[in-house]
Amino acid sequence: MTAPAENRPTSYGQVSLAVIMRSAEANLAGNIHGGEIVKLADSTAGAVSARHVGGQTVTAALDEMAFLQPVHVGDIVHTYGQVNWVGRTSLEVGVRIEAQPHSDPTAAGLHVASAYFVMVAIHADGSPREVPQLLLETETDHRRWREAEIRRAHRLAKREEILRSRGH
Ligand SMILES: CC(C)(COP(=O)(O)OP(=O)(O)OC[C@H]1O[C@@H](n2cnc3c(N)ncnc32)[C@H](O)[C@@H]1OP(=O)(O)O)[C@@H](O)C(=O)NCCC(=O)NCCS
Repeated sequence: MTAPAENRPTSYGQVSLAVIMRSAEANLAGNIHGGEIVKLADSTAGAVSARHVGGQTVTAALDEMAFLQPVHVGDIVHTYGQVNWVGRTSLEVGVRIEAQPHSDPTAAGLHVASAYFVMVAIHADGSPREVPQLLLETETDHRRWREAEIRRAHRLAKREEILRSRGH
């Protein structure tokens, strides 16, 4: 069994990735497939959660992935992730995705998507394990925690209702 690590401040788990988009990731119109953006966001959430828990995590759920703008071949996509909330064995990671044309380093990053991932810390046998507590550092961290609690309540209520409708 893996012992729970010490508590972590929000800044400890912050991770940013940057990837240049290639034609292999695009459709015929030159826009990047949404799935590629989801994969990048998931990789970011995986890095954030692994750093926070100091071990292996899996993606349990993904919701509210909103695509706000198209991403094009040649854009540099930047992802920014951090832990928003922690429970007993799960945590929510928020990921913001921005794109910038590779030919213009002065261009401000355009907010193209955001997503919220539920990650679960696991032991080597795949069973859930306890996660370190999260030390909130800023007012924004407190706001994200409150909003993550609302999303969790909705997720769990939806799951309960569906299971109830199936007679479980
Ligand atoms: C995620 C997984 C470990 C959960 O296992 P489980 O036996 O259902 O565990 P539990 O029911 O105790 O749930 C563990 C935690 O996850 C949370 N959770 C699980 N599914 C969830 C969902 N759909 N939405 C929100 N939270 C969820 C639970 O609320 C609990 O949180 P808490 O301990 O902080 O209160 C298991 O379902 C699994 O291994 N799934 C596959 C993950 C994977 O392979 N992902 C990659 C995609 S290919």
